[in-house]
Amino acid sequence: MLSKMLTKMFTITTLVCLSTTMVNCTDSNSNIGVGVNWGTMTSHQLPAEKVVEMMKQNGFKKVKLFEAEKRIMEALIGSGIEVMVAIPNFMLLDMSRDQSYADYWVDDNVTAYAYPGGVDIKYVAVGNEPFLKAYNETYLQTTLPALKNVQNALNRVGLGDQIKATVPLNADIYESPESNPVPSAGDFRSEIKDATIEIIQFLYSNDAPFTVNIYPFLSLYGNPYFPIDFAFFDVSNSNKSVKDGEYVYTNVFDANYDTLVASLTKAGYPDMKIIVGEIGWPTDGDVNANVKNAQRFNEGVIKHVMTAKGTPVRTGSRLEIYLFSLLDENKKSIAPGSFETHWGIFEYDGKPKYELDLTGSKHNKGLSPVMGVEYMKRRWCVLNPQVKEIDEGLAKEIDYACSLSDCTSLGFGSSCNHLSVEGNASYAFNMYYQLHGQSEWDCDFSGLAVVTGEDPSVGECRFPVMIAVGTSVVVVHRRILKVLLGVVEGCIVFLLLVS
Ligand SMILES: *[C@@H]1O[C@H](CO)[C@@H](O)[C@H](O)[C@H]1NC(C)=O
Ligand SMILES: *[C@@H]1O[C@H](CO)[C@@H](O)[C@H](O)[C@H]1NC(C)=O
Ligand SMILES: *[C@@H]1O[C@H](CO)[C@@H](O)[C@H](O)[C@H]1NC(C)=O
Ligand SMILES: *[C@@H]1O[C@H](CO)[C@@H](O)[C@H](O)[C@H]1NC(C)=O
Repeated sequence: MLSKMLTKMFTITTLVCLSTTMVNCTDSNSNIGVGVNWGTMTSHQLPAEKVVEMMKQNGFKKVKLFEAEKRIMEALIGSGIEVMVAIPNFMLLDMSRDQSYADYWVDDNVTAYAYPGGVDIKYVAVGNEPFLKAYNETYLQTTLPALKNVQNALNRVGLGDQIKATVPLNADIYESPESNPVPSAGDFRSEIKDATIEIIQFLYSNDAPFTVNIYPFLSLYGNPYFPIDFAFFDVSNSNKSVKDGEYVYTNVFDANYDTLVASLTKAGYPDMKIIVGEIGWPTDGDVNANVKNAQRFNEGVIKHVMTAKGTPVRTGSRLEIYLFSLLDENKKSIAPGSFETHWGIFEYDGKPKYELDLTGSKHNKGLSPVMGVEYMKRRWCVLNPQVKEIDEGLAKEIDYACSLSDCTSLGFGSSCNHLSVEGNASYAFNMYYQLHGQSEWDCDFSGLAVVTGEDPSVGECRFPVMIAVGTSVVVVHRRILKVLLGVVEGCIVFLLLVS
């Protein structure tokens, strides 16, 4: 009886193992596809398990994380989604000084998940855009030593061959001279050139990729004379193209990418592997930030990847990209611009903003939302309609509400820019109220505000109700189930070994 059961169990485990192996075998192919950045600077987090389920439903093959958040890493266990997990900039100094710090980070955040059937970690991103001009060279000295220590730590635990450390850098580390603005004239910015080349040397010798973030939207945002069609991928109009010797550029992405290739070539690394760590288009907070442009851009870049056309210099090579980004993040700093809280392909609550086909083949394929999202009560905080006097007091209250929430949709060119002063006040009050969890005392504003059950949204200007947060029962049950399954597996292995 026991042996019969064992045989049965053995068959089942073998089948399971076989199917796992088969999945692994096709992995190198299934990775073809686009990745996505999952940032979590939001006031209200969606349950990680539900977000991972949504990513699987929609066919995202890869995800890039800005930190190794435990709840997210755990949700990715067994998902088959390839992961790039990052070390935030503030840790670089310690990592650069002390190998044991890097060892400890890798043990806690990589080794703990990188077992067969665990999380498919492929890269560790060391820092995030550490050479950004705005950082005043704060991380110039620490990035390379931190990178080395992290890769050493990966090597030490035997993961160095399958997991590579890399550094996502911003595209302003290289440029072409104004006198000759063509890709082939590109080179690294002189202030950070030596440091960058040292990083490249280390990455190259370690068979790791160079990671760069490229934003055509920012080219347009920063330059009122920028020809808008050149930011997209669907216009081959020769008027807007850039000629560079034998090469013709019809979009700024290719031009930017090949400027990097030229810079790498000058440094002696013409065949350096490149990953585009961030690329995308926001949907609000600027005249050019809207759903139509975002869809046009993302559709274009996905097609660009999937057709494996490459760029003029690297023709026929398949680009590797991570879209920016998955969800809107209402706690992002808006210092660079009001669009910063609107990069999501999905809203804060996991609803897709537009249709997008991640395989690049079909037009306008719908995206699945995050399922089973729970919201707070359907109620809003608005300006009391009894208030007749629009005075300085009200302006102060609006400023206060906005400074502690997100009013980026009110600005010029944004979705709620057409509101009246009263509308502005209601919008600001509501954002504050929702972000602070709909507490009664958060809808007062010196007696100017009231709670209403009527949705004040008008047209595209939406007054959101936040998602409810808390540990869902399902998550807890799934955790327990995982542990139980682990125990059962352990028993089977033990029995097999004994028999
Ligand atoms: C692992 O990553 C998390 C998230 O960044 C961080 O809080 C934690 O300190 C890391 N663990 C170690 C040992 O550094
Ligand atoms: C960088 O330097 C500028 C000018 O000196 C200063 O205003 C800014 O606050 C500095 N930024 C950082 C991150 O130190
Ligand atoms: C291209 O440029 C020429 C000359 O500047 C202009 O006459 C023509 O209308 C442009 N074509 C398009 C499609 O913009
Ligand atoms: C509403 O607020 C926005 C952003 O501060 C401002 O640009 C706009 O002029 C305001 N509208 C009115 C009618 O005051």
